[in-house]
Amino acid sequence: MSKLNNPPEISIEDCTGCGICVKACPVFTLGMKNDKAVIEHGDWCVECGHCGSVCPVNAVVQKKTAVAPELTVGKTTPVSPEALMQLLRERRSVRQYKDDPIPKEVIEQIINTGRYAPTGTNSQRVHYIVLTSTDEIDELSKRILNFNAKFFKQLEKKPFAYLFSLFMGRRKIQELLTYGPTIVHAKKQRDKGEDPMLHNARAIILTHAESWDGSPAFNCAAALYHCSLMAHTLGVGVCFNSWLENTVNNNRKLKAWLGIPKENKCYGSMTMGYQNIKYRHLIERNQPDVEWR
Ligand SMILES: Cc1cc2nc3c(=O)[nH]c(=O)nc-3n(C[C@H](O)[C@H](O)[C@H](O)COP(=O)(O)O)c2cc1C
Repeated sequence: MSKLNNPPEISIEDCTGCGICVKACPVFTLGMKNDKAVIEHGDWCVECGHCGSVCPVNAVVQKKTAVAPELTVGKTTPVSPEALMQLLRERRSVRQYKDDPIPKEVIEQIINTGRYAPTGTNSQRVHYIVLTSTDEIDELSKRILNFNAKFFKQLEKKPFAYLFSLFMGRRKIQELLTYGPTIVHAKKQRDKGEDPMLHNARAIILTHAESWDGSPAFNCAAALYHCSLMAHTLGVGVCFNSWLENTVNNNRKLKAWLGIPKENKCYGSMTMGYQNIKYRHLIERNQPDVEWR
């Protein structure tokens, strides 16, 4: 558990002793004494703010997370299940972008949604890098393609494939080998002036996090997914990009070029631009693979 050491403050006079904050606390920071809520393990607090969110009389305040009382849950119209499903189904990968740049305020509005995504132990360790220079994006695209072209050329050689399979596993190598022809094709497209890697994106958002954190991959993915949904509502199309993520994590020079600290890894990225394609129909997907026990 991260120890942030900023436990809530409790007003003993206002506390009615209902104990709801104690039940809501996920890390046993609060307890009950003489029918009042008390801090029992202040240094275990992860500053999630659940205690203050549930207190019916505002007797518990976690200062860092507290907001004005008028921002009560339920004051604005909640999204109906139908509207949420529509949003989730409408969001599709967009790889065709208009030339118009995305204003900084719009990108900020998109990124602002990321911080409301959950993070393991409320670590909030999600960092963003935003690229908006088309020259830089083109340079990045070139570097990704060149790195992978070299890598897949090596991988075609049996001794290399064997060596890699020792630490990556045979199945992974088999899977990787199927991408080889894609890279050859992508190189041809690039030679024709196209950008098969980053789709001539107008902006790129990349998330990175401390690799030693509890759940950096999920934290970044959840934050970026929040961003992708907000982007959709603003008419900005996005496409997640694992080529970028994998290349950054396997290429120290590129990681340094992007300014990602050594102890961090990239856990997700997306290309962005105003949507230049219209999806007219929703699609169907496989049924969930669930085993009920
Ligand atoms: C983790 C992840 C990585 C992806 N990487 C790429 C990528 O490198 N290039 C690309 O064009 N699309 C990429 N995609 C987009 C997927 O191909 C796409 O989500 C999938 O085909 C489903 O289509 P939809 O997003 O339109 O529903 C990625 C998606 C995810 C979730």
